[in-house]
This record gives sequence, structure tokens and C-alpha cells, in this order.
Amino acid sequence: MKKFKIAVLAGDGIGPEVMKASIAVLEALGKSCVHKFELTEADVGGIAIDRHGKALPDKTIEICRASDAILFGSVGGPKWEKLPREEQPERGALLPLRKLFGLYANLRPAVCYPQLAHSSPLKPETVKDGFNVLVVRELTGGLYFGKPKETVKSREGGGKMAIDTMVYTTSEIKRVAIVAFETAKKRGKRVTLVDKANVLETSVLWREVVKSVARGYSDVALDFIYVDNAAMQILKNPGQFDVLLCENLFGDILSDELAAATGSLGMLPSASLTDGTFGMFEPAGGTAPDIAGKGVANPIAQILSLAMLLRFSCKLEKEASRIEKAVERTLQDGFRTADIFSDGCRKIGTAEMGERIAERL
Ligand code: IPM
Ligand code: MG
Repeated sequence: MKKFKIAVLAGDGIGPEVMKASIAVLEALGKSCVHKFELTEADVGGIAIDRHGKALPDKTIEICRASDAILFGSVGGPKWEKLPREEQPERGALLPLRKLFGLYANLRPAVCYPQLAHSSPLKPETVKDGFNVLVVRELTGGLYFGKPKETVKSREGGGKMAIDTMVYTTSEIKRVAIVAFETAKKRGKRVTLVDKANVLETSVLWREVVKSVARGYSDVALDFIYVDNAAMQILKNPGQFDVLLCENLFGDILSDELAAATGSLGMLPSASLTDGTFGMFEPAGGTAPDIAGKGVANPIAQILSLAMLLRFSCKLEKEASRIEKAVERTLQDGFRTADIFSDGCRKIGTAEMGERIAERL
């Protein structure tokens, strides 16, 4: 019997409701396995601004530090958009959490289940029986964090000048490339580096470093694709890819595109990892303010993020795959939230989706 401490940061928008559904699944799992999960809730994002005056309170950081993993919902919303940018939920909580805990490797598995193939905006002959592509996104470097990052007075014309800096070092690239190769080894054995090496200095360094990492993995094939072409190929034939290794911004963009291609952004989980077992696990979609509080949001991305938490931070592979199989069976049995609904299926809300999955564990 092992005991795990999990920090639960539900956040804003649909965060709390999808989190609740995933906790229902964890509780059901807890009853039918020997391991114990101790959950501690903490405020983050807009709700933390309202209650404590800042998006990432010290208390929340403390709770995360004392935990084996963070289960994260989502942060942000129209209510906090007028605050200074540094104080807003995304830049005041999400990005600092990634940086603070050194969560440099972001795994986003875009799985299009055969049951949902017709929910994809892509043509049936493109999607065929579904696809399974893993985006490995670098998460603590590049344009998101590079300095200088500022808006100053322009030297010409009296206007302003805004600067973001794309910067990468050998070691930043190497560590995330290793994660991509290690992961590829356990699945399709192919890594595709997404870059813009015909234009960007950073991309040239990425190619150089990734090639040298690849020499240690004779069983994994490596190829390269320019990011604009990758965006196009995802629409034409997503199934051609296995692992897409991306710098931070490219990975942000392509993972949304792939998520949409799977049928819904509400299906895409993610794991943000560092060296060791600690990690933060969150749906890749946002707070969806338009449907928040209505009980209709799809909790599957949150529930699959929980499965990733069990796999990576708790090393409970069996329990992780029990959840993933339960999700598949629930879809197989025709239960759908509104975002993935189609004729002949049963439309259910957030909480019921959690219950249906829990009872299929
Ligand atoms: C994501 C999100 C975040 C990002 C935003 C909310 C800052 O889009 O996790 O993909 O850009 O990383
Ligand atoms: Mg994004």
C-alpha cells in the first residue's frame, strides 16, 4: 500500500466542475485499490485573486511543494482581463507554476478514439479509425520566458516597441529531447522535430542537439518538419505522426490544432514533468467561460489528466490504464457531453460523465 499526496488546484471557469468529476473518479478508484490518496485543495488563478489578492498565493505554493503531484484545472476569464498582465491568472499563476517547479516537458497525447472519429472536423477518410499523436512540448523556455520581454518607447516614429525573445540553450533542448525519445521508444518509435530551421537560429540549434540525442536511440527514427508544413500535414493526415517534439510556442499551437482534430478540445489531457516524479497534470483546453457553471463541460480531459498523474507521479500504471479503459468504455456505451454529441448517442452533463466513467472502472 502506498500513500500519495495530491494538490488539487481547480481554478476558474469550468475548472471546478470538471475537477469535481475527476475527483469522483479518483474516489471510486480509491475504494477499489489498495493505495491511498490524500487530496488538498488550494486556490489558484482568478479565484485566488478574489480571495487572497494574487493569482498564486504562497499558501498554494506551499501545498504544491508538500505534494507528490498537482492536479490542475484551468485559470483565467473575462473578469480578470483588465488587471495588469503580470497579475492576470495565466501570467500570474500558470506560467510561474511551470517555471517554479521546473516543469520543462509537457506531454499532450492527442488521441482520436474510433468512437469519436465522426466528431472530428476532418474528413472521415482522413481520420479513418482515429489516430494517436503525442506532442512533447518544451514548457519553460522560448518566447514565453525569454528576456528581454517588454514594451518600450520606439526610437522611431513616436510609437512603442514590443519585444519577446526566443532563446534556447543546449541543455534546455537536450533534456526535453530525451523525454521525447524515451517516450517514443515505448510507442511508435518515431520522433519528428517541428521547427523553422530555414529562418530561426534557435531551430538550427534544436536540430543539432536533437540529432546528437538521437544517436543514443538507434531504435527510434528521427525526422524533421517545418512548423507551417506540420500545421498543414495535421489537417491532411494526422496519423502519419507518432511523437511531435516542439519548442514552447509551436507546441502550444499545434496541440490545440491536434486536439480539435480529435473531435474536441475537451478530450486532451496533459502532463507537465520535471526530472523525477513530480508533475502537474491539466487539461490542455482553457476555462471555457461561455459554458462555465452550466454543468455541460466535458470532464474527460481532466479525468485523463488524472490518469497521467497516476502513471507518471505515482507510478501506478495499472490504475492509470483502468481509468483510460473506463473512459473508452463509456464512449463505447454511447455517453457523450455536448461537445462530442452525435445522433444516436446519449447526451449527459459533466457530473454524470464522471459517474459513468467511475462505475466502469
Ligand atoms: C496552454 C495554454 C497556456 C499556454 C496559456 C493559458 C498561457 O494555452 O496550456 O496551452 O499558452 O501555455
Ligand atoms: Mg494552449
